[in-house]
Amino acid sequence: MTEKALLSVEGLTIGFNTEQGPVRVVEDLSFSLAQGETLGIVGESGCGKSVTAQTIMRLLPSPPSRIDAGRILFAGEDIAKAAEKRMQKIRGDQIGMVFQEPMTSLNPTQRIGRQIAEVLVLHRGLGYAEATGMVVEVLRKVGMGNAERRLEQYPHELSGGLRQRVMIAMAIVCKPQLLIADEPTTALDVTIQAQIMDLLQSLQRDLGLAILLITHDLGMVAEMSRNIAVMYAGRIVETGGARSVLARPRHPYTAGLLASSPRRARKGERLPSIPGLVPPPGRRGIGCSFAERCARVTDRCRLELPPLLTIGTQSAACWNPVP
Ligand SMILES: Nc1ncnc2c1ncn2[C@@H]1O[C@H](COP(=O)(O)OP(=O)(O)O)[C@@H](O)[C@H]1O
Ligand code: SF4
Ligand SMILES: [Mg+2]
Repeated sequence: MTEKALLSVEGLTIGFNTEQGPVRVVEDLSFSLAQGETLGIVGESGCGKSVTAQTIMRLLPSPPSRIDAGRILFAGEDIAKAAEKRMQKIRGDQIGMVFQEPMTSLNPTQRIGRQIAEVLVLHRGLGYAEATGMVVEVLRKVGMGNAERRLEQYPHELSGGLRQRVMIAMAIVCKPQLLIADEPTTALDVTIQAQIMDLLQSLQRDLGLAILLITHDLGMVAEMSRNIAVMYAGRIVETGGARSVLARPRHPYTAGLLASSPRRARKGERLPSIPGLVPPPGRRGIGCSFAERCARVTDRCRLELPPLLTIGTQSAACWNPVP
């Protein structure tokens, strides 16, 4: 996996200054993503997925956020240390990003065409008139019919699904190598979700995009990703090929997520859910942070942090992995 890594995160540790003092939100995170491939990062809300994505893009203000340790190698360059000026060149050009709620990232007072054109003006030095042809082209590419008319519309005139297509258009108009998609379909209904997933897959084929897909939907990861990294309380607890991890999870947390995944349910059936909540940063204990919720817990789990160890073709951080 590391051989032709486009993105390689090594030992990334992210902290925040809070009123209660400094806290570690993400700890010792390592993963890599090859050109043209998809890595799915999954985990419940509060596990540090968005903080990770925004740190890779260096979008979090510092302070209060800090990169306490680790490297973020993008095409060989450690962007954890890059100056803001350098990041402005990379963001939107070599790395595109799509968020959960496009309404918050689109400018409500500006026409769609102008907003997409702005990315080209910034990164390609084009004038708005020149950019328009490319904007029409990219709107067609993201499946927005009637592109010439769409240029003139404002975000509120579009449905949620179309707004997300506009966000994707903005993210790919400069043909980035990497797309970070943070819960890209969470706000959309199921039919539209499937259409957006199809779109991302076809763009990946056309552009050779690598996709970092952040989601709490295991079904989506199964369809989209070659590899998976399961995050719990700021750490990766299980990782490997998506197919093998989902077919045979070894970490009790992954097994719990899978058992509570809606796509597993038959009609009318109630899903079991993992009891308890993700512990907030600062209250994760010295041992395994899943201990309070785990049916396989032993004394050792509460005292010693389990390292990520290889089991077959995957890795899990657990003292008593699922057999
Ligand atoms: N500015 C901040 N200051 C302190 N803690 C924060 C800040 N932003 C996020 N966090 C904490 O980081 C943790 C991970 O959040 P997040 O990355 O949004 O989770 P996810 O995307 O997996 O739902 C949460 O416990 C959240 O409270
Ligand atoms: S280390 Fe212990 S508490 Fe943590 S997941 Fe494994 S069995 Fe459960
Ligand atoms: Mg999030």
